Amino acid sequence: MQTVTMNNKLEIPQLGFGTWQIPEGKAAYESVRYALEVGYRHIDTAAAYGNEESVGRAIRESGIDREKIFLTTKLHNNDHGYEQTKEAFQESLRKLDTDYVDLYLIHWPNPIASRSHWQDANRGSWKAMEEFVRQGLIKSIGISNFREHHIESLLERAEIKPQVNQIRLYAGEQQHKLVQYCKDKQMVLEAYSPLGTGGLLSSPLIKSIAEEVGKSPAQVCLRYDVQKGHVVLPKSVTPSSILQNKDIFDFTLNAEQMARLDEMENICGPTQNPDETSF
Ligand code: A2P
Repeated sequence: MQTVTMNNKLEIPQLGFGTWQIPEGKAAYESVRYALEVGYRHIDTAAAYGNEESVGRAIRESGIDREKIFLTTKLHNNDHGYEQTKEAFQESLRKLDTDYVDLYLIHWPNPIASRSHWQDANRGSWKAMEEFVRQGLIKSIGISNFREHHIESLLERAEIKPQVNQIRLYAGEQQHKLVQYCKDKQMVLEAYSPLGTGGLLSSPLIKSIAEEVGKSPAQVCLRYDVQKGHVVLPKSVTPSSILQNKDIFDFTLNAEQMARLDEMENICGPTQNPDETSF
């Protein structure tokens, strides 16, 4: 599995299995089990997804050595702050039934629960996360949905720089300024909703490029992000799609095809402003 090196010299597999919107129980357990069976070695979950227990059980029962799997989870929006983060992280470890996570992210920079004091709340969370890194309970730490001003505020006090920012990225939504800013700060970009939550798959442009390269529209979307250097996190509960989404390292989009995708409009709706959400 192709990897990307983070600023702490650790490797992250460039393809991960996204579990947002996969319900806890049979669906989460079976899809993660199948993803691991066909070769995924990177699973992305979150406290807010409510499926950590099934993800953990699927990993455990896969029989694959824990060290061979890259596991990410994220801090819940209601748990920002030093003490809350310490408790929330331990609860995630318990649910995942594991001794450590490979990557732990602050899921949202400015949730409604701590909006009046989001800067201090994030700094408190980060301090707790840094302590867990030193204790070996977390290997890498990062952020998700953060924009430049959220990152600036975090960096004022951070002792460990974020290793990644996980944001909404796909052909048509490339968040150019933010991506460049994160690259300048040596962060890896992780692309969530790389298929535009499925909305990109009927795009005539993507379909025509898929025909040109003899691949599926989903594979073209994922390959586009991979060639940009991003980590991709496609979600699926359908075995044939889980299998298909893995086969994105045996072909290349040429410069002209990449340029056509660069020109795409965002056909999947605007990305939410994290300072203005109701959650
Ligand atoms: P499903 O979960 O029913 O298989 P994103 O990763 O951008 O959030 O997109 C996820 C959506 O795309 C889900 O609705 C998922 O459907 C669908 N999907 C994922 N992979 C494929 C694929 N290879 N072909 C068609 N649809 C797919």
